[in-house]
Amino acid sequence: MMETVVAQKSAASAEAVLNKPEELSYSEQMTKAILPNRYLGGETFLDIGCGQSTALARLLVCRGGGYTPCDIHLPTLEELQKKLVNERLNTKDLDPWLVEDISCLSFEDKSFDFSHVRQVIAHIHSSKVDEAVSEAFRVVRRGAYFLEMDWSDVVPCFEASSYFSEFIAEVRSFAGNHGIDLNFGRKLNAAVHRVLESQASRILIFESQRMAGNYSKEYIEVCKSMIHISGKTRDLETKSRFEDFAEQFGKHPVVSRPPKMYSVIAERFKSATS
Ligand SMILES: C[S@@+](CC[C@H](N)C(=O)[O-])C[C@H]1O[C@@H](n2cnc3c(N)ncnc32)[C@H](O)[C@@H]1O
Repeated sequence: MMETVVAQKSAASAEAVLNKPEELSYSEQMTKAILPNRYLGGETFLDIGCGQSTALARLLVCRGGGYTPCDIHLPTLEELQKKLVNERLNTKDLDPWLVEDISCLSFEDKSFDFSHVRQVIAHIHSSKVDEAVSEAFRVVRRGAYFLEMDWSDVVPCFEASSYFSEFIAEVRSFAGNHGIDLNFGRKLNAAVHRVLESQASRILIFESQRMAGNYSKEYIEVCKSMIHISGKTRDLETKSRFEDFAEQFGKHPVVSRPPKMYSVIAERFKSATS
């Protein structure tokens, strides 16, 4: 049986946090922006490759919706579970062991109203991308939300920020070595079309570019991920480079044009929901 996180008393405080955009990351803000209010009346969401952020749970739970997280990485799920408990989002019915691979989900067809797949497909081997898109759509009655960033035109706005160009080059090379396609954002639309062309769906596309600004805090988060991964793989040279970059961002903030976020929503036609 499907388990979900359901609405609870912390809803008011969750809503208050969500109304403070500065407490949401760029990608969380994008999700919030593309989930129209008309959809948020108690629908169930499967968050595939959920990661450790509770923002989507808060958004859905405080509006009476259902939230089911799943991820391929068990420690990630355990970490998310702890946070959901701390934030008093009801997890008593939540199965914490929803370890799932997006390219072969264990859920039956149309088990949820929607799925949410944010910055996950960039991590999937190119030979499995179509299966991943297809699976995310198979398990929903109404629609699938896909969001991916694109780092291809991330640039510093001032010449003086030389370490920033090195940082971007290093991030690209690190991602490439780990099978992550940082430019998947602009390929997302084509992938969703390719897979769902013959299915009864309509596809909505959003492309967002944030204003140039100081995004050092977010780049430091990127550094932390790279430090974490390179620490685990004992790639100490890379780890130390990202530690240096994090220190630089702390000391010398850079004004930059950050990555674009591409969002593609595939909705089933009404007649196909039953
Ligand atoms: C960059 S994080 C994004 C997390 C979250 N969706 C967000 O936007 O904050 C990528 C996540 O995808 C998960 N992931 C990677 N490959 C996956 C797969 N084949 N199936 C399910 N999850 C996967 C990772 O474990 C990680 O939690």
